[in-house]
Amino acid sequence: MKLFIDTGSVTEVEEVARWGVLAGATTNPSLLAKAEGDAGEAIKRIAEIVGGPTSAEVVSEDPDRMVEEGIAVRTLHENIIVKVPFGPAGLEATARLRELGHPVNMTLVFSAAQAILAAEAGATYISSFLGRLDDIGVDSEYELREIVEAVHENSSGAQVLAASTRSPLHVVKAATAGADVATVPYKVLKQMLNHPLTDSGNAGFAKDWATKPELAEWLNGLVEQSKKNA
Ligand code: G3P
Repeated sequence: MKLFIDTGSVTEVEEVARWGVLAGATTNPSLLAKAEGDAGEAIKRIAEIVGGPTSAEVVSEDPDRMVEEGIAVRTLHENIIVKVPFGPAGLEATARLRELGHPVNMTLVFSAAQAILAAEAGATYISSFLGRLDDIGVDSEYELREIVEAVHENSSGAQVLAASTRSPLHVVKAATAGADVATVPYKVLKQMLNHPLTDSGNAGFAKDWATKPELAEWLNGLVEQSKKNA
């Protein structure tokens, strides 16, 4: 499963990109509204940093205008994927954008039935929301598994992108459910780092290492030697 970051913040992308774990990014109107500065510049910069598919969402509800907005956002950077909200207008716009050679991430998908339509319309990615289903008491893992099965059975080649991930557990569930991608907010990516046994383990290594100062001397010498030989 590939990891995308779900944000409109260049700063967040710069930090997490240094971990070497990001294959792409997704934005949406709410995330861009929260971000600082020029939206176009932020999307371009994010696409440059992640070096992979970066979704920029259309906002019109009219299919003709959706297509125009989609073509326009694609001019920002070669990595841009047009994000289109699910619905009849979105399906029409997706089909037309695909005809024109523009990849689409169909978003706000919550059921396998919707996902089948999105795949048939030609979506490259299908953003299947987890958190918002949990918010209304629907088993998001069950829905995701159904979507994965329905889409992967389909010959369209669409990829299931687990979205609205609100916890590390959502990311794990997305992976075990067979999602192709999970898009994850900065906060959750940071939470995924944490485990008390990692912290205590690191502290234990440092404590034991310090009991034998000659070890540090040995390793420092090895580093200096390897630098000399480089
Ligand atoms: O960007 C799409 C999706 O990830 C939004 O998540 O937390 O607003 O439901 P959320």
